[in-house]
Amino acid sequence: MQTTGSFAKLAEEVLARCRRLALFSEDTCGTRRTFLSPPMKDCHREVSSWMKALGMSVSVDAVGNLRGLYPGASLGAPRILIGSHLDTVPNAGAFDGILGVVLAVGLVESLEKSKLPFAIEVIGFSEEEGVRFGVPFIGSRALVGRVDQELLDRRDEHGVSVRKAIQDFGLNPETIPDAQLRDDVLGYLEFHIEQGPVLENLNRPLGVVEAIVGQNRLEFTFSGHANHPGTTPMHLRHDALAAAAEWIVTVESTARETAEMVATVGFVEAKPGATNVIPGEARATLDIRHASDKLRGQTLDDLIRRAQAIAAKRGVSVEWRTLLAQNAVEMDHFLTGQIEQAIRGSGCQPHRMPSGAGHDAMIVAEKVPSAMIFLRTPGGISHDPAESVHLDDVAKALDCGFQLLTQLASSQEFLGRTCRA
Ligand code: GLV
Ligand code: MN
Ligand code: MN
Repeated sequence: MQTTGSFAKLAEEVLARCRRLALFSEDTCGTRRTFLSPPMKDCHREVSSWMKALGMSVSVDAVGNLRGLYPGASLGAPRILIGSHLDTVPNAGAFDGILGVVLAVGLVESLEKSKLPFAIEVIGFSEEEGVRFGVPFIGSRALVGRVDQELLDRRDEHGVSVRKAIQDFGLNPETIPDAQLRDDVLGYLEFHIEQGPVLENLNRPLGVVEAIVGQNRLEFTFSGHANHPGTTPMHLRHDALAAAAEWIVTVESTARETAEMVATVGFVEAKPGATNVIPGEARATLDIRHASDKLRGQTLDDLIRRAQAIAAKRGVSVEWRTLLAQNAVEMDHFLTGQIEQAIRGSGCQPHRMPSGAGHDAMIVAEKVPSAMIFLRTPGGISHDPAESVHLDDVAKALDCGFQLLTQLASSQEFLGRTCRA
């Protein structure tokens, strides 16, 4: 039986491991580890060594998800999945996604070789952020059978397709269907930093996610006319970047006027991109999120109409394409109730909350009852090197996870569940 003291020691190891993985980066300065990049191989090697030391069998599926299986008490026992993602945003912190994978390995360690009535499959998803190909969740999409030809044909900024990236990593895209979940999966659990200020403001270490808000990601291209900036009078210009800029400010004000709506233009590119050329083309992305799918859809339609109106007024054209359209997803009621109980068992007061960030759980939930536990995020800072987590909160999360596994192992309701995969 684990004690609070041993969770504290394990928590130290979890934090040290997260920091070690942050060194596997495509950039010399800061952490950037995108889908199937060379440092992802190093990351796999490191995490695999921890898994193997615990008697787990390790494999990498055809989209590059790292999967470690800790067997159950009997042959053919069902399994639960515990995981998160191993890819990062550019200039990332050390914990977004990574903590959920490392903590899952720590939970297996906390079992001290004892076996449960279910196997535990720890998954390190290869792609959640959408950085390399502009499309997030490639890893978890493979588990639910949603990697299609269109996705495989998408190209990164160097013209490399998803299919080619898979081959270059030494994997076979033909075997992607083998990554799909089978009907022996009882549920999916994901530990993740909250990435916001709510738990910190409430002075609570752990939270239970009730639902993950829906999101759309799009790319807009404004096309005007490049021209000479010294000779072209202001009223005769068709400046694509100025049109994009006016629209970006509209995006911000529209979101501000709608309760709980968040909308972000996180990437802008002007072409040809020179000080002394009026921009002929401007690309801008849009990320829009809200708990209500209806309101999000209406606001998105409005922002598209505004882009058209702004472009028309300026003699510029605008086109857009959808990169992601993901509805809000509710977490499994039984599992969220069990998590609340486990949080209480670890001496904390649980807080139920929605997640404004997207997570692999929202994809896996299509096929398997899924739930998430949030860890308080100091300063609410994430997607930044300053991202952190308290050692004591990690110890509490391990304690909570251990209690949760113990509860589930003795729950006939849980063990009798059949999965939709
Ligand atoms: C994932 O980090 C997201 O953008 O929600
Ligand atoms: Mn993230
Ligand atoms: Mn994440």
